[in-house]
Amino acid sequence: MCGIVGAIARRNITPILLEGLKRLEYRGYDSAGMAVVRDSELQRERESGKVAGLEAALADRNLSGQLGIAHTRWATHGKPSRHNAHPHLSTASVAVVHNGIIENFELLKQRLQEQGYCFHSETDTEVIAHLFDANYRQQPRDDASRLLAAFRATLAELDGAYALGIVHRDYPQELLCARMGSPLVIGVGSGEHFIASDPLALLQVTDRFIYLEEGDHAHLTADTCEMFSETLGDAGRSKPVYDAGRLGSVPSARSNLSTQPVSSPVQPAGSDPKSSSGCWSPVRRPVQRFEHGDQAASKGDYRHFMLKEIHEQPEVLTRTLADKLTPEGQLLTAALGPKAAELLPQIKQVQIVACGTSYHAGLVARYWIEGLAGLPCSVEVASEFRYRHVAVMPGTLFVTLSQSGETADTLAALRFAKSAGYLSTLAICNVPGSSLFRESQLRLMTHAGPEIGVASTKAFTTQLAVLALLALVLGRESGEMKETAVEEAFAALQVLPQQVRQVLELEPAIAELANGFADKRHTLFLGRGVHYPVAMEGALKLKEISYIHAEAYAAGELKHGPLALVDDEMPVVTVAPSDELLEKLKSNLQEVRARGGRLINFVCQQAGLNNDDGIRNLPLPKADELVTPILYSVPLQLFSYHVALVKGTDVDKPRNLAKSVTVE
Ligand code: G6P
Repeated sequence: MCGIVGAIARRNITPILLEGLKRLEYRGYDSAGMAVVRDSELQRERESGKVAGLEAALADRNLSGQLGIAHTRWATHGKPSRHNAHPHLSTASVAVVHNGIIENFELLKQRLQEQGYCFHSETDTEVIAHLFDANYRQQPRDDASRLLAAFRATLAELDGAYALGIVHRDYPQELLCARMGSPLVIGVGSGEHFIASDPLALLQVTDRFIYLEEGDHAHLTADTCEMFSETLGDAGRSKPVYDAGRLGSVPSARSNLSTQPVSSPVQPAGSDPKSSSGCWSPVRRPVQRFEHGDQAASKGDYRHFMLKEIHEQPEVLTRTLADKLTPEGQLLTAALGPKAAELLPQIKQVQIVACGTSYHAGLVARYWIEGLAGLPCSVEVASEFRYRHVAVMPGTLFVTLSQSGETADTLAALRFAKSAGYLSTLAICNVPGSSLFRESQLRLMTHAGPEIGVASTKAFTTQLAVLALLALVLGRESGEMKETAVEEAFAALQVLPQQVRQVLELEPAIAELANGFADKRHTLFLGRGVHYPVAMEGALKLKEISYIHAEAYAAGELKHGPLALVDDEMPVVTVAPSDELLEKLKSNLQEVRARGGRLINFVCQQAGLNNDDGIRNLPLPKADELVTPILYSVPLQLFSYHVALVKGTDVDKPRNLAKSVTVE
């Protein structure tokens, strides 16, 4: 949430910052701003609304320089407005961009006001700018490390989450940044350095990145990159990392990244960090090459990122399965990590925790894990789980699902789980350098590639593919599945990408269904069994991007309440593959029709459902039962997309939402 970008170079960096903001807009888009240091002066431009507004404002101003920071905001403290937009300044000397929440900002603000600082916004971020200025003034004037010392003194007083970029008008060659609870990468260029919330922001200028870890801060010039980490322990400042949760422990992000370093680490320049508090030490972090290429951040020929991402699914499903299966279709247990062989036989049950769309993937997985592996499986949203006193049974595997690997609640749940007696932690995630990935013992990558549309699509189906594999591994391990059944299931997964391709060809028919739907204000989604969570995800997609109120129900629950809502203004969308529950579902559909309700059914070709007055069917190819939850998700994504198109909403950036929710 919120996107930050910064640069120190020997060329004008304003076009780089602007392009970076456009690429980060999925993280927040209610206001944007930029500050540039030039001739010992800080120049700033801010606008409310999307980055295009800032771009228009910049066109009228000659904002240029070789050092600058920029921000696109998703409001937490203070309404979306120009005066709350970042960067925030102090005494026209310091400019700050921030992603996260400073929890002790009120206390700090009071103190700074008593010292004479005037506040011009309602944000928590503005305290950082004034605090930095106050700390800077306290450092000896002749101290060569005055800027860094002020930065550290400031960090030492902040409680909460932050990714920060800071510049000072008297230091036109220096860019400061820090990470605690919100992601931040350093982009390594040739004689230039950049910072951003996500590598995608910088692919136009570099493909080499350093992923800062929790508690790291860095001091950058065009040529040097000094990084420091917090030294915990008796001598160090041991403050809890944001969002560890009230039951949580202090985490330590120390595991290896899955991507290999591509060159020698950037050397810490200087051996003595001259820490004013004595609790920082120089650190090396590997430089990693971004594997997806710059086209990952572009829409190509598609009208929206969401549509591009829906159409990428055959390819990314293939890629996701490929590195976990041998050419003979055997699952590589080792794909889970070196400890997998030892841990798998000890798993007695599974606890899945996630948010949003990832949570729905977990709900599907419960049917698979219980049905195929015979292991009890619980699924819970992270924001609830993290604040609950949980009873942990021995042998429970704790699984987190996340596209971004940075979702604050999921991360906090993981950190809590690490000290709660779980057997082990497994992250299923789409970003290899993410916090979730680094902090989990076992890992499975979804290779969906960068997902930019706020509404998740390809990340969901690739998560499902990985979860199906996990269920098969557990099924084989528990003895619940015979080897031939496992092999048949692998085979079903391998033909899935081709079946998804066939479903994508139905887009014109799906668009036509959507045409007659866009004027509706409410709708129900129905499914049974493993397709109930698929219906939940379909309803979520529709409400996220078309703003039509959508609720999902297990079809058997219809007559226990929601049927009261059904009339010809309340369409009902059903997920109806040919499975053992189809006949029961058909009875539920009759109940809807008998009340004048209009049905849109995503059905199996063989289901024997005919188009009729008030009933529209979209027949889908027959597929193995294991993969139907994945296959039937695709037309629901296309349906929501086309409804949103007709309604004219901002598909990739729906109102009030953002991707990568790094605040609680
Ligand atoms: C936000 C996004 C959703 C996503 C959820 C969880 O709400 O808009 O699309 O499903 O966060 O994100 P994660 O990255 O943890 O999967």
